[in-house]
Amino acid sequence: MQISFAAPAPAIEAGSWVVAASEGRALTPAAIKADKASGGALTRALKFARFTGKSGEMLEVLAPERLGASRILLVGLGKPASLDLKGLEVIGAQILARLESAGEKSATLEIEVPKSAKLKSGDAAAHLAFGARLRSYSFEKYRTRNLDEYKRHLETLRLATSDAAAARKAWQGLDAVANGVLFARDLVNEPPNVLYPAEFARRAKALAKLGLKVEVLGEAEMKKQGFGALLGVGQGSERESQLVVMQWNGARKKGEPVAFVGKGVCFDSGGLSLKPGSGMMGMKGDMGGAAAVTGAMMALAARKAKVNAVGVIGLVENMPDGGAIRPDDVLTSLSGQTIEVLNTDAEGRLVLADGLHYAKTLGCTHLINAATLTGACVVALGNLNAGLFSNDDDTCEKFQSAMRSSGEKFWRLPCTDDYREQIKSQIADIRNTGGTRWGGAITAAMFLKEFVGETPWVHLDIAGAAWNEDAKPWLAKGPSGIGVRSIIEWVRSYSA
Ligand code: BES
Ligand code: MN
Ligand code: ZN
Repeated sequence: MQISFAAPAPAIEAGSWVVAASEGRALTPAAIKADKASGGALTRALKFARFTGKSGEMLEVLAPERLGASRILLVGLGKPASLDLKGLEVIGAQILARLESAGEKSATLEIEVPKSAKLKSGDAAAHLAFGARLRSYSFEKYRTRNLDEYKRHLETLRLATSDAAAARKAWQGLDAVANGVLFARDLVNEPPNVLYPAEFARRAKALAKLGLKVEVLGEAEMKKQGFGALLGVGQGSERESQLVVMQWNGARKKGEPVAFVGKGVCFDSGGLSLKPGSGMMGMKGDMGGAAAVTGAMMALAARKAKVNAVGVIGLVENMPDGGAIRPDDVLTSLSGQTIEVLNTDAEGRLVLADGLHYAKTLGCTHLINAATLTGACVVALGNLNAGLFSNDDDTCEKFQSAMRSSGEKFWRLPCTDDYREQIKSQIADIRNTGGTRWGGAITAAMFLKEFVGETPWVHLDIAGAAWNEDAKPWLAKGPSGIGVRSIIEWVRSYSA
């Protein structure tokens, strides 16, 4: 989709003309202009419509032939006082979804935000475009038939604004974030026969063109260094495990980075603790945490963020061949702590244990990890909110304020030391499951905490939210790319 900003509003020669009204059917000047140009088509349609101007409501009229436009779409903005940039993103997404389902190819948005909303015109236009761009995502790479049906994409989106220069400037940053989110979604969508660890590593490596320093460790190197937990997970697979380290040094001064660690299980069969068939479907997405970290690093580099950051992703395939780890095995992790494996399907925490420890050896000041870690988290929160755990209230609150401005939703769950009892092992330092089903998301977090130590840390359990089951106004069905936007927002509070 081509996105452009124009001031003043361009003449409309084709496509949809999108204008707005706030609650109470208060037409904006552009809507009044469109109404006049169409010989009162809008006011006539309003007579017979339920449209009130609430946020996201829409009223569509066919444009008369003498107008170049195909249709006029009137969009509700709600109460101006409660309109914010997040709200505009959702409205942009809703407009996009509506136009695409109508088969529209081009549109001009002439949406003036009422003065009482206290938003700048340039920012408003950029955020409308951002919402539209994120909603327009689809993955058609593997379709060979019926492309007309699936590829119904808006090709051109023009946004009128009174300050096109400001809009373009804001868009530069937002476009980079959108690219990161969409890159993460693509990674999750790719099937596991295509996106196995080495292929994921190759795609991460290609991000070096943005100025990231990308290093890849294979099995031999990891063995030498002692990544016993991560390698344990991958040892039942034909595919070689990989560790990818992405560095972005954008701060003015050299200094310790913030670190992001992602679970990258390219396929999770459960291993010898094999999942039932129904539970295995969708497990190509078990690298959603690694995808989020990669997308975030990509965006930080594209935005030339003034921060030193490192992204570490552990890429493995959890498979059950004759060389696989067994329930009852004891692994020695990179940190030196030994782990009794009771369930080979609790593999993500093993991968992260070594990833987190490795990030610590790089001397990071803060750690954030993202992982599709537990089904228990989905039971607890459904897929609207992802789980959030932290050992540090201050860091956690900063993350929560970042998530609020990004629009992604996380809900904090406890990981206090009174839960530690449940991961004690009979014969090793720690065991990889809690022993009962209860509080499974928490025992997983407690396990990770053992490898984090005193470093301020936030753990994101995105098992549910990484995949959107039903299309929502702001999000198509499929991978959400959750994590990318909040990480980027969070980084802003640590930039120097
Ligand atoms: N990858 C799964 C978690 C998951 C479940 C992600 C559903 C997305 C959707 C994880 O590796 C797993 O299998 N966890 C087990 C842990 C249990 C064996 C302690 C689970 O949640 O059942
Ligand atoms: Mn598993
Ligand atoms: Zn898993």
